[in-house]
Amino acid sequence: MVTTIEYFKKIKDECVEESRGYTPKEITKGMFERKEIVGFFSELGKIDEAYSFVVDSMRKYFSSERCGKIYVPGSGAGGLARKIMDTFPNLSTIQVDNSPEMIAINRNNSYGYKTDILEGDILNFGHNTNYLDAIVAYGIMRYIPIDKRNKLVSSWHPFLKDGGIVIVGEGISKKLVENINSVDYSFKTCLETDAKLFRCSLFYLLFNRYDKDVSFNKKINEFADKENLKYTDVLKNIAGFVPSKVYAKVLQK
Ligand SMILES: C[S@@+](CC[C@H](N)C(=O)[O-])C[C@H]1O[C@@H](n2cnc3c(N)ncnc32)[C@H](O)[C@@H]1O
Repeated sequence: MVTTIEYFKKIKDECVEESRGYTPKEITKGMFERKEIVGFFSELGKIDEAYSFVVDSMRKYFSSERCGKIYVPGSGAGGLARKIMDTFPNLSTIQVDNSPEMIAINRNNSYGYKTDILEGDILNFGHNTNYLDAIVAYGIMRYIPIDKRNKLVSSWHPFLKDGGIVIVGEGISKKLVENINSVDYSFKTCLETDAKLFRCSLFYLLFNRYDKDVSFNKKINEFADKENLKYTDVLKNIAGFVPSKVYAKVLQK
């Protein structure tokens, strides 16, 4: 007889296999409109260690009293921006994302924060010159076509105040940050750390299966009831956190 744990492990292995050719947009379609998912991802940002790495990198340049404005391109649900504003309470942020779903979640979760949350394409987004204290681009280079990455990073420099910083970071692959450079300035500081990162894509696949596969749905719900957990927490435990490397480059103007 197959135990529940063995059954979950089998499903997880199948999803890992499936994740080789998946298209996140299809799988996450409608997902972020669900209340339980919005709450789930808002909590996740507190556990995933990538944000701490980014904020610690900023601390080397900024004291906690620092005043000013930070641009967060590709801000997603806003977890990183909120962590930045919690750490530096005198900083306000401008966040831009091209996903209306992410913008809605972010606005819902950001009451009371000094932030502008704007829907737009970061490839066409301009600012006043000498205006920003930092640009913090985490987890976004993977979405930008390779031939446009350096151009995008170079286009940010005029917006920075003297002494301002650009941080480009990624948790998936070193390659995504390795080749980043700008025409006018070069990134001198390269950072790398070990962190615990949540396996988002695996979670998306498990969630998709929870919606589509009746017997998987039943098993998860039974287990959740027995253990007095939310079904999202059972899926979270199956997907899990993995020790991983996080990479970042920092440039000071
Ligand atoms: C992996 S998430 C990272 C979110 C956030 N920086 C963080 O670390 O939590 C990447 C986000 O970039 C957004 N995005 C991708 N390409 C974009 C573009 N060209 N303009 C604006 N946002 C974009 C996606 O919608 C997604 O929300």
